[in-house]
Amino acid sequence: MTGVGSYLPKNKYSNDDLTKFVDTSDEWVTKRSGIKFRHFVSKNETTSDMAVNAALNAIKNAYIKKELIDLIIVATTTPDNTFPATATLVQKKLGINAPSFDVQAVCAGFVFALSVAKSLMKDNHFSNCLVIGADSMSKILDWNDRTTSVLFGDGAGAVVLQKFENIDEKLNDWGILSNVIHSDGNLYDLLKTNGGVSNNQSSGFIEMSGKEVFKHAIDKLSSSLEEALSLSNKVINQLDFLVPHQANQRIILAVADKLKINSKKVISTVKDHGNTSAASIPLALDHAISDKKIKNGNLLGFQAIGGGLSWGSSIIRIGKPHN
Ligand code: UT7
Repeated sequence: MTGVGSYLPKNKYSNDDLTKFVDTSDEWVTKRSGIKFRHFVSKNETTSDMAVNAALNAIKNAYIKKELIDLIIVATTTPDNTFPATATLVQKKLGINAPSFDVQAVCAGFVFALSVAKSLMKDNHFSNCLVIGADSMSKILDWNDRTTSVLFGDGAGAVVLQKFENIDEKLNDWGILSNVIHSDGNLYDLLKTNGGVSNNQSSGFIEMSGKEVFKHAIDKLSSSLEEALSLSNKVINQLDFLVPHQANQRIILAVADKLKINSKKVISTVKDHGNTSAASIPLALDHAISDKKIKNGNLLGFQAIGGGLSWGSSIIRIGKPHN
């Protein structure tokens, strides 16, 4: 993972701003979720626009020519159009010649996309892959539902994955060391939109059984991270940082407590942008790199959960092996 970038739309809303059109308060949102701000796309700004901005930053930070990219995967739940894949628009806007497709696993989308990318790279099909998480959640928020509308925001994050010839033993402990992904469709109704193309020809709005998702999140985020650690022969104390899905500060803290990881090692940016779904991990990662917390060679844990329910974790040694 040699380059990371992100993008947040210009329009930033505080909790107080939301009180103008939702029956809520800064106190409630802060106490229940830790969220203070979220960004929303402007009327003509789309998921692919955000994805392209994040991708350009990631490519710049990887110090590679964009022409080297040979695969583009976009994790999104809020595509520009129902079809084709948003990734093909990103490809066009970036001017890159590479197969491009979307992965849809809602808030867990980025971890799922990493897993797909790693497998395709391992099979020697691709060498320089762009994985993007991008979502315009504001487009599917029901402003009459105060229990969900105050929690989400828009944004994008991207990473460049590069394959290196394994001439150095160091590389065995570098890059994406393990991935685990899970889904339980029995929990489909806990977090979903109330519409869909083949259901009622609409995109629908988000509905969530918050309390139940909350409980599943703590269990499943913890267990999947433990699984990923075990697959990579690592233990929690070896992680330099945990970069969790940014949905709720209370979930982030409860999982950190359950995993017995020092809270100083847990990246939290949820306060500044709310739940940005598939964008959340690469966005938090980019902010932590910009803040000079996460550095080249650090061992990281990623973990995410969302509608499906779908969830997963990854263990990654980030950066360039030969700096
Ligand atoms: O990305 C996928 C993962 N998603 C998540 O991780 C979200 C998981 N769930 C959560 O984060 C939390 O369950 C919420 C933040 C959604 C809700 O927190 P909670 O502590 O479970 O609150 P609640 O739903 O039980 O609501 C408590 C009270 C209710 O009032 P009463 O019935 O106790 O009088 C709600 O009507 O808070 C009220 N309420 C609000 N009040 C002000 C609900 N939403 C709001 C609001 N502003 N926006």
